[in-house]
Amino acid sequence: MRQSAVLLAVVSSLFASLPHAGAQEVGREIYQQRCSWCHGDEGRGDGPSAVGMFPPPRDLVRADYKIRSTPHGQLPTDDDIFNIISRGLPGTPMQGWNAILDEEDIWNLVSYVKSLSPRFEGEPRNPLDPPLLSQIDVDRGERIYKDAKCTLCHGVAGRGEGEITTRLAFDWGLPYSARDLTRGWTLKGGSEPQEIYLRITGGLNGTPMGPYQDLLSDQDRWALATYVASLDREPLETSEDFVVAAARVDGSLPDSFDDPAWETARVVLVPLAGQVVQDPPSRWWTPTAGTATIRALWNGAEVGFLLEWNDPTETLGGDIFPDSAFLQFGDLNGSKPYFLLGDGNGAVRIWHWQAGDRVEEWTAAGALEIDTRLAAFRATGVWRDGRWHVIFRRSATGDPGFEAGEFLPILISVRDGANGETGNIRAISTWLYATIEPTRSLRSVLVFLVFLLGAVIVELSVLARIRR
Ligand code: HEC
Ligand code: HEC
Repeated sequence: MRQSAVLLAVVSSLFASLPHAGAQEVGREIYQQRCSWCHGDEGRGDGPSAVGMFPPPRDLVRADYKIRSTPHGQLPTDDDIFNIISRGLPGTPMQGWNAILDEEDIWNLVSYVKSLSPRFEGEPRNPLDPPLLSQIDVDRGERIYKDAKCTLCHGVAGRGEGEITTRLAFDWGLPYSARDLTRGWTLKGGSEPQEIYLRITGGLNGTPMGPYQDLLSDQDRWALATYVASLDREPLETSEDFVVAAARVDGSLPDSFDDPAWETARVVLVPLAGQVVQDPPSRWWTPTAGTATIRALWNGAEVGFLLEWNDPTETLGGDIFPDSAFLQFGDLNGSKPYFLLGDGNGAVRIWHWQAGDRVEEWTAAGALEIDTRLAAFRATGVWRDGRWHVIFRRSATGDPGFEAGEFLPILISVRDGANGETGNIRAISTWLYATIEPTRSLRSVLVFLVFLLGAVIVELSVLARIRR
């Protein structure tokens, strides 16, 4: 009797463990199919696609997890891993999987990912208490942001332009800038104050972003989180605006980027992506700039473009490559040339500005057909608080010629020297169109006034007749 009870207990415990082993097995299959080409067969972060990827895919055996609800140095909870696989890590090659996999499969993956590291067998995982504070105190948060020296890395403007960002790059042997907090959707663990609170409290394991649990009180970390959330002011990196229309101004074009004249031109937000790199063949995954804004003015004789983008470091050249920007043009009303350097069917004209205000101009009809020309444009750049502001100016006639109401293909590209960007390693847009707004013609205004006057005279005479 007792023996059969023991047997029953053994059998039922075997059954209880079965779904678990099953989950891990199903998880392993999905992992081999979907994850191993980046994270590697054994989870070491060394899959065939990991070459040149930065940040590299996580080593799931070491298990230094960035996004957790646990204190610094601890492993994530099961829920944390579930959320990461579902949502991904924005701004990195680690996409969210919830559009492709259902919840059950993601739980199976959680079970398999944990089995890759022996650390999950013994180490504690104690989730932090979520903040019970609902009060939003952005002003206090701003003071703490400065007092706690977040500015050293993230900068006063929050664009990651702090004074030691370049040093981080060297200490870690790789470009390692602190997050640009004005682009909220690039926060890997989410941009809600509750989520930011957990990042500030527990830090991001294995990165220069340390924990503040013992350095700041609960209330201070919460106020800080509400302030950081308020810095998220850059628009999302999608745009349907494809026309850069130069607004007509009278007199000379402005020389400085903060001249109010620029406000008369419509701002076009341009999403940028990593350029395809040929050697080794891959995409440049981590360009610094995620968007640029461009606007244009013309005064009847000259056209001016103001190009602006976030770059935490001002790199003028020397040991590393200078920051630089390109405006590239196709033919008026022509087709859009092959986007990098044009080809036999369509040439491109390239204006290149480099930090320090050196300029060069090329025409290209394919990679082997590049001609340097005398630069017919001028460009001046100012770097301030983690943002470049570069003004390009040129006569509206010439090559390429700008004509009112006609459309010239234009493409934008920028490089961050401190991020190792040189040659084709850079951020690049798709083709947009540039055009200039037609002149407000004096003749049409006169014709309108004559009509108006005529109408008034007719009306007055009718009224006079009625009175009589
Ligand atoms: C295209 C490459 C790629 C693929 C495919 C990929 N990952 Fe990742 N994964 C990454 C990179 C890169 C990181 C690290 C990003 C960082 O450090 O900011 C990462 C990080 C992670 C992390 C760590 C999260 C943290 O908080 O630190 C987990 C867990 C993870 N991936 C699981 C998966 C699973 C499961 C799959 C398959 C469903 C998968 N990944 C597919 C590239 C990839
Ligand atoms: C030593 C430099 C350094 C200091 C000081 C620093 N950070 Fe960071 N911070 C970083 C780096 C680097 C990252 C990006 C880590 C990564 O994703 O690999 C980061 C990331 C972040 C993130 C993004 C988390 C996410 O979900 O992506 C937030 C929010 C943040 N820091 C807030 C703060 C606040 C608030 C302070 C001050 C209390 C601070 N940091 C101090 C370097 C620093």
